Amino acid sequence: MQKNIIEVCFTPSDYDYFKGRFEIVVVIDVLRATSAICSAIHNGVNSVIPVSTIEEAKEYQDKGYLVGAERQGEIVEGFDFGNSPYSYMKPELVGKDVVLSTTNGTRAINIAKEAPIVVIGALTNIDFLCEWLIKQEKNVLCLCSGWKDKFNLEDTICGGAIADILIKSGKFTSDEDTSVGAKYLFQGAKDNYFGFLKSSSHRRRLKRLNLNEDIKFCLTPNQMDVIPILRNGRIEKLEF
Ligand code: MLT
Repeated sequence: MQKNIIEVCFTPSDYDYFKGRFEIVVVIDVLRATSAICSAIHNGVNSVIPVSTIEEAKEYQDKGYLVGAERQGEIVEGFDFGNSPYSYMKPELVGKDVVLSTTNGTRAINIAKEAPIVVIGALTNIDFLCEWLIKQEKNVLCLCSGWKDKFNLEDTICGGAIADILIKSGKFTSDEDTSVGAKYLFQGAKDNYFGFLKSSSHRRRLKRLNLNEDIKFCLTPNQMDVIPILRNGRIEKLEF
């Protein structure tokens, strides 16, 4: 049996070296964009429109959309909310189309948008997502959002976890050292994500901003059976 490929790309700046060989790209920004998007879609938000720049976000706001905008972990002044998963669990957002712009996550989603299938991955939906990925019989790339085009630990660990689950299914294989490295990091972190990531730069940044509850939420696996999927510029719930 021919196995499918699963690889991990550490940063958006490395994406050019990988793209074109994968039918499915899983975009990962554990702290916090993709965890927030999973929460939004799980909690009944109709769609999340990911935009890369504050200018685009502002244009949507002027058209009357609700807009979340985050830079350096903080809510950008003048917008409705930022990037906390808890902001997207509010009853008033159910059924709404919400626009989101974040430092790295929404940029990574837009970088991957030409791929045949783009889905959103986080620790919060990891097992449900992997179950679906295994059934697709397609090549999968995990694109880590990183921090300003640099490697980060939390996205790499999540990519390593996805690679580990897919390879253990017996239907996938990987070849790149990025994927091997991501799996090693996942093995080291899996019993205590919170402790392992204590010294990660973005965890420290969020802690300084008193966002420990967000960190705990984002690092708690399998809270929701949801797969957000990008279609025509909007992230919606994949219905089965
Ligand atoms: C990002 O897109 O860089 C992040 O999700 C940052 C954050 O809000 O924690």
